[in-house]
Amino acid sequence: MDFDRLAEIRTAYGTPTYVYDKQVMARQYQNLAQSIRYTPLRIHYACKANTNCAILRIFRDLGCAVDCVSPGEIFLALKAGFSSSDILFTGNNLTHSEIMYAISHDVLMTADSLSQLEVYGQINPESDVCIRINPNLGAGHHKHVITGGLQSKFGIYQTDVAQITSLLNKYNLHLKGVHMHIGSGILEPVLLLKGVESLLQVAGEFPDLEFVDIGGGLGVPYEPGQVSMDLRKFGESLTDMVTRWAEHNHAVTLVLEPGRFLVAESGILLTTVTAVKENPKYTFVGVDTGFNHFMRPALYNAYHEIVKVVPSESRREFQEHSEVTVCGDICESADIFARNRLLPPLKEGDLLAILNTGAYGFSMASEYNSRPLPAEVLVDKTTVTEIRKRGTFQDLLRNQCEVDIDG
Ligand SMILES: Cc1ncc(COP(=O)(O)O)c(C=O)c1O
Repeated sequence: MDFDRLAEIRTAYGTPTYVYDKQVMARQYQNLAQSIRYTPLRIHYACKANTNCAILRIFRDLGCAVDCVSPGEIFLALKAGFSSSDILFTGNNLTHSEIMYAISHDVLMTADSLSQLEVYGQINPESDVCIRINPNLGAGHHKHVITGGLQSKFGIYQTDVAQITSLLNKYNLHLKGVHMHIGSGILEPVLLLKGVESLLQVAGEFPDLEFVDIGGGLGVPYEPGQVSMDLRKFGESLTDMVTRWAEHNHAVTLVLEPGRFLVAESGILLTTVTAVKENPKYTFVGVDTGFNHFMRPALYNAYHEIVKVVPSESRREFQEHSEVTVCGDICESADIFARNRLLPPLKEGDLLAILNTGAYGFSMASEYNSRPLPAEVLVDKTTVTEIRKRGTFQDLLRNQCEVDIDG
């Protein structure tokens, strides 16, 4: 994104502010859609990556459907204009009332366990359902994001077909789809494709199936030296695999649920340097945001490029870089965005951009340390629109009850 534009955004909206580029989202969606020639194909944006309704609307307008993991996400997706039939609900360990929420809004639910399939059958017999399969393998950029294999809490094990069938029969349920999601941040698709192979084997047991959902997980390069997934190759292998299956079995819709891939690279977290501190060994650059607003570095030790935003006319001044630790304003030692990072000289008031923060940035943010949430801004070519106002102290009181502790 243009540095002069970012400086203008700071002037208009302050920091910390998430800034998203609509064109990047559209590019990612089109690249993915064009790389898979299998038809029918449906891409459901996994909105847990970023649930701002303005972003949901962008994907709706691009022709995307949506994947939700909670009733709250269903609520937002409906608010953003998706119809019930555009929504897949892939919840985990849902309460009775959460399942009822999906049913009453006519949203197809994916059962994550035999236990949830049983409860669903009791609540809503003679209806459609989808099941999440654990294909006995997982993948991802960090152990916390691996969602398949024996250690993972997700999905019904692929060997449990007999139990699935028996529950479907018991409650007269129609299995519309089988689903898997083996992890997140996958740049090398071998395991993902192996998972698809296993999922298709399970799918072969259900002759009335309408769709096969291979989940999300497609990664983006965050670190220098990482390369993007070879989408064309992935798309070809996937297309071949599902086409062969459909020829031997029956026609199905192929569903993908990418989150990160569609939005990560569209986002920047703008932040201002508030303090610079040196000790005998390290230089700390403190900024006006923290892991409460952007968790990925603290939670996953994730690497995010950080750049100094300088007006175009003075960019040549910063030749000499030195190693610094960029840290936030939260009272926790884990509140570090980057260690030993080479950056140009920095002083209080300088503007920094933490890159590739469009996915799992704001959607994971909290008000920890009683710091209100950041603003969000959408850039569409030359138009800049505020899509979420900065939080306020009043927000910190929201839902707190006034209790007279003296009785
Ligand atoms: C069920 C489901 N589908 C899709 C996704 C999207 O994953 P990603 O952002 O890695 O594409 C997730 C994320 O964890 C998920 O839980």
